[in-house]
Amino acid sequence: MDWKTYYEAHITDAAAAVKRIKSGDRVVVGHACAEPSHLVDAMVRNAAAYENVEIVHMVAKGNSEYCAPEYSKNFRHNALFVGASTKAAVAEGRGDFTPCYFSEIPALFQSTLPVDVALVQVTPPNEHGMCSLGVSVDYTMAAAAAAKIVIAQVNECMPYTNGASEIAVEDIDCFVLHNAPTIPLAPPKIGPVEEAIGKNVATLIRDGDTLQLGIGAIPDAVLLFLKDKKDLGIHSEMFSDGVVELAEAGAITNGKKTLRRGKYVATFLMGTQRLYDFVDHNPDVYMAPVDYVNDPYVIAQNENMVSINSCVQVDLMGQVASETIGMTQISGTGGQVDFIRGAARSKGGRAIIAMSSTVKGKTSKIVPLLDTGAAVTTGRCDVDYVVTEYGIAQLKGHTLRQRARALIGIAHPDFRDELIGEFKARFHCEY
Ligand code: COA
Repeated sequence: MDWKTYYEAHITDAAAAVKRIKSGDRVVVGHACAEPSHLVDAMVRNAAAYENVEIVHMVAKGNSEYCAPEYSKNFRHNALFVGASTKAAVAEGRGDFTPCYFSEIPALFQSTLPVDVALVQVTPPNEHGMCSLGVSVDYTMAAAAAAKIVIAQVNECMPYTNGASEIAVEDIDCFVLHNAPTIPLAPPKIGPVEEAIGKNVATLIRDGDTLQLGIGAIPDAVLLFLKDKKDLGIHSEMFSDGVVELAEAGAITNGKKTLRRGKYVATFLMGTQRLYDFVDHNPDVYMAPVDYVNDPYVIAQNENMVSINSCVQVDLMGQVASETIGMTQISGTGGQVDFIRGAARSKGGRAIIAMSSTVKGKTSKIVPLLDTGAAVTTGRCDVDYVVTEYGIAQLKGHTLRQRARALIGIAHPDFRDELIGEFKARFHCEY
């Protein structure tokens, strides 16, 4: 059967497609802004037909209705990353959280987390019968490869991204044609604190560096201060509108990259239509699965690799908590450690953790001890640069005493006395 005949024979509607999900199944939902919301909504409408369907998802950008208390017998959420729409379910015990490195999720689908059904979103097929996974290749490709049944929402609005991002129509079991704008992510608000952090981070970045940027206001603020740099490159778990702006300003050429020269390499994308138009059919964009893009060994093949990520607390030893506030899970490990380790192994590489020195001016993020129950995302042997609006602390290769001194030096002045008191008691010496 040629691919066109196969495709046409397997088109159905969402209500019929989700009937293929059975009670007790593990369903993996396509990631972030590529979430196939039309299929997820149909699955929730069919809730009465299911008991105990496990929904595995990472950054959930849809409304995650399956997390609502009234569906607790029908669905159980297994979060690989917690977000606004899923954190209550996890905190209230209706959902679970699985700690994992983003780079290792594809391997989990082949081992401890076998997949029954993958709900994905794709572009319409090209002339060769290949669909692009668009803005999320990440674990979505691996979920489709591992699943017994693959159900795809075919969306003409999904940008066609190039790279290792294509799936053959014959690898999909049913197609639901439904057009809807790709989920947008509004640009974050950048205030004076984020700008000051961005300015400090920018002093660590040199012409020709390859960058990884985490999510949020701080990475975007860093980009504001890179407009005069030359030949920057991108090898990032994800990127957003800030990169498009910097590319248009001429600062990003990818021309000095030592791996995939000339290409923007990423595993997922979140932003506005401006970003989605930029990546659509763009031969300079190389989207690939997360077990490639986030593999520290692959990352390290970029010389002068700089990773920029954020966190919620750092203790005086340099232990970094990025995903929990005390015992409450607020996000996930994501690719932070993947990129910190990759940058550490890169010739000329630098790994940066950038954060505001306080939580809204009220408490210090630099603390003697992490909050009780906080998970350490980046261990003290992995951490290197920590940056706040007050400066830069370089920790790798430094003693506990030197680390504590450097971190106090970039803490908010209102909290330094308290931290100095702890320093004196801990190290039996003057600050
Ligand atoms: N104590 C109490 N609350 C804290 C806190 C602390 N130490 N630190 C942050 N918070 C609160 C904030 O006030 C904010 O609350 P709000 O939502 O009510 O406004 C919330 O936690 C989120 O913090 P914020 O600093 O606004 O988050 P962000 O969007 O800049 O993201 C991380 C920061 C650390 C959560 C995010 O970068 C992350 O999840 N990192 C781990 C994964 C990762 O690095 N992936 C890498 C690449 S994509």
